[in-house]
Amino acid sequence: MRNSLVTSRLNLGSVVPIHRDCSSVSLLANIVTRASRPCHYKCALPVLGFELWFGLNYNLRVPDEFVNPINASTRICAVYGFPIKHSASPAMQNAGLAALGLNWRYIACEVAPENLRAAIEGAKAMRFVGLNLTVPHKLLAVDFVDEFDESVKRWGAVNTIRIEGRDKHSTWLPIHQFGDVQPDKIRAHGFNTDAEAITRSLREDLGIELGGARVLLLGAGGAGRVAALKLAAENVGELFLVNRTHSKASAVAAEIRRRHLNVKIQVGYPRGEVDLCINATSIGLSPNDPLPLDTRQFSLRQAHAAYDLIYRPAETLFLQTAKAGGSKVANGLGMLLYQGAKALEIWTGQSAPISVMREALTKEVYKQSTIHSPQSTVQSPQSTAGGAHTEG
Ligand code: ATR
Repeated sequence: MRNSLVTSRLNLGSVVPIHRDCSSVSLLANIVTRASRPCHYKCALPVLGFELWFGLNYNLRVPDEFVNPINASTRICAVYGFPIKHSASPAMQNAGLAALGLNWRYIACEVAPENLRAAIEGAKAMRFVGLNLTVPHKLLAVDFVDEFDESVKRWGAVNTIRIEGRDKHSTWLPIHQFGDVQPDKIRAHGFNTDAEAITRSLREDLGIELGGARVLLLGAGGAGRVAALKLAAENVGELFLVNRTHSKASAVAAEIRRRHLNVKIQVGYPRGEVDLCINATSIGLSPNDPLPLDTRQFSLRQAHAAYDLIYRPAETLFLQTAKAGGSKVANGLGMLLYQGAKALEIWTGQSAPISVMREALTKEVYKQSTIHSPQSTVQSPQSTAGGAHTEG
């Protein structure tokens, strides 16, 4: 997946919702102290009223450096990439961790490919809770994890690692469950949450029912291939593949014919209408990019819905054109959200706080954009799914 989104910045100091807030304790202590001073008794009640009112508002959001300060019990998750400064994952995941009330932090580490094995071993040695992997590590990491989830076997790439320990009954458990006990062995368990995130985003952000759908997929690179295989696994009715390099689309089509006998697959543009057109090419990442399709062969008016794996800019020419033609549209931020939410669930064993994570992610991704937030430019406000060109 392409790493082209270098404008986002890591921001561990973003504002996050507070649920367990020690600042409210000190605020109340301050109110009580002031109200109990004799010289202030006449003004104590107005002060109390103001401070409680102010305190309630203040208590909704405070900068996260004041919440759950890092201490000796803080557990660490990290994303490894090269480069990594563009990653929006720390903002999203730290908001999620804070909302779950966990004394955990999620950091971003620039790890050169030649150091990936050592960095994974280091995470095991330091008892990190888990890792995410982004460009260029997803394929490389397959050789460096100790155990594969089914999703890694299926998609051939690792984007999430859970560090696990073996207890005295020889059961492997998430490392954070061991507390102060030292497991007799530690392993890195690899998962892939990317492919599932594509279809979850299509369903939740566009309301598409994939079973039996007619789909045109543009692009047969790394992202396009995974999207095509996942759509086939979801039993779409007909899948049309178009790619600049025809042979790559043919190779993906052949792979699908081998693995999914019931899916009708063709290389080339469809006649008539489709339920969904997906852009999985990298065209649209730059502001002056053209449409990623040949409008003499296919008009976006033929598509009931359009999805762009690109999420920045929030609305590519592809989405603008589709929206103007009456299609329902969504960009790729939801894909980024759902792959991260699933990773958080794998580490914590708890449901991810999706709305908190979505808000933090949207704020982080679009904070420097000259383009309006996706809510104002993309039909579905929940539609900002990350794409293949969407590294977290
Ligand atoms: P990713 O892993 O993000 O999918 P990729 O594997 O390099 O990145 O794939 C990029 C996709 O965008 C491919 O489908 C590529 O087409 P080719 O397979 O022909 O290279 C497509 N793409 C990139 N630039 C393009 C361009 N100028 N015109 C048409 N397609 C383009």
